[in-house]
Amino acid sequence: MIRIAIAGCRRGHAFIPILKDAGFTLVGAMDPNPDRLSTFAQSAGLSPTACFDNYEALLSLRPDAVLLASPMPNHTPQAIAALDRGIHVLSEVPAVVSFGQCVRLRDAVRSSKASYMMAENAIYTREAMMIGAMSKAGLFGDLYYAEGEYLHDVRSSVVDDAGQFTWRKRWQMDRRGATYATHAIAPPLVWMNDRVVELSAVGTGSHVDDRFNGDDTCVMTCKTGGGRTFVVRTDLRSPRPARTAYYQLQGTTGCYEAAQSPQGHARVAMNECREWTRLSKFEREYLPKCWRDHRRAIRQSKHGGADFFTLLAFAEVCHGAPSPVDVYTALDWTLPGLISEVSIQRGGQPVQVPSPRTAELDDAAALDAGNTLIT
Ligand SMILES: NC(=O)c1ccc[n+]([C@@H]2O[C@H](COP(=O)([O-])OP(=O)(O)OC[C@H]3O[C@@H](n4cnc5c(N)ncnc54)[C@H](O)[C@@H]3O)[C@@H](O)[C@H]2O)c1
Repeated sequence: MIRIAIAGCRRGHAFIPILKDAGFTLVGAMDPNPDRLSTFAQSAGLSPTACFDNYEALLSLRPDAVLLASPMPNHTPQAIAALDRGIHVLSEVPAVVSFGQCVRLRDAVRSSKASYMMAENAIYTREAMMIGAMSKAGLFGDLYYAEGEYLHDVRSSVVDDAGQFTWRKRWQMDRRGATYATHAIAPPLVWMNDRVVELSAVGTGSHVDDRFNGDDTCVMTCKTGGGRTFVVRTDLRSPRPARTAYYQLQGTTGCYEAAQSPQGHARVAMNECREWTRLSKFEREYLPKCWRDHRRAIRQSKHGGADFFTLLAFAEVCHGAPSPVDVYTALDWTLPGLISEVSIQRGGQPVQVPSPRTAELDDAAALDAGNTLIT
């Protein structure tokens, strides 16, 4: 069993029931909010001596791995502190909140003995894994177009029990652009085996809630390294039912559309593409076997099993497997959101997305200059 510690006990709480099945023993938890910490400790059966209000104390337990479920701006500094001590990191999304953090995180991963994985659970849903298998089998032909959406009114999480704004106001609501985009971006990029190299973004501005300055909706039109077109929409506050896993994929011989609503059905069209077939008809052949092997853990997992498969993949990383969402992939999926902000500031001009594998990333650090939100 891998000894794991969790920082951030709200989102972190979701992982408690699935840790054991994925191969982890919980050794400690940390949250500055004492109520959150004690609720977590009770659910997890964790002794008070393993619970902390500060991160350094959590790391002093010398766990094998940490799961970072803390607010967005804490992910990078907490990941670096763990990596510097040789502790494996599973970081919630997004990986970073600034270009400077991209460089610091990449450098920390490069010089650490430990491994890094971003916890992008959208690639581990039942549907995402099926579409991945079908794309790989060539059922849609050569892929040339995709759409991704994440529409989720999170305004109820912007104010805490004491009536104070949480981190979400500053980092998700007041910034322009796509401030929480990895769930919309990652699955199509996995299916197309591609990365975004350039995008232009437009934002609606703020219409629905005068407490916030950023965009209600942001749309990014992206070009990928493989020459594909990819349209991404994010929205964290428009009044509407949530739609957090909507995607489209088009290839030369087939296409896929996710369900429009919980009552709807995902569908695919192939060959002549004249009529739709429910995606569920292809489960027998294309649903990966792991979905049959782990039924109990899937039932206990949030996000329809996706959290469990994220954790299971991380267990393999801790045992020496290559990270499926290593720091380069994590930045490939996080950087478009940061670049959308730059494009909007430039009136929607196309802006190159730096490659995290090259010195382009170091040059991009200058883009933080003048952004008053970045500290
Ligand atoms: N992948 C997913 O499906 C998913 C779902 C929800 C949240 N998230 C991510 O998880 C993270 C947490 O989101 P949330 O919804 O729990 O937010 P939240 O605001 O509801 O809770 C944040 C928690 O972190 C604690 N905290 C504050 N500062 C901290 C620090 N320095 N170290 C550790 N904990 C700290 C707070 O006291 C609070 O308990 C965010 O980065 C969010 O983007 C991901």
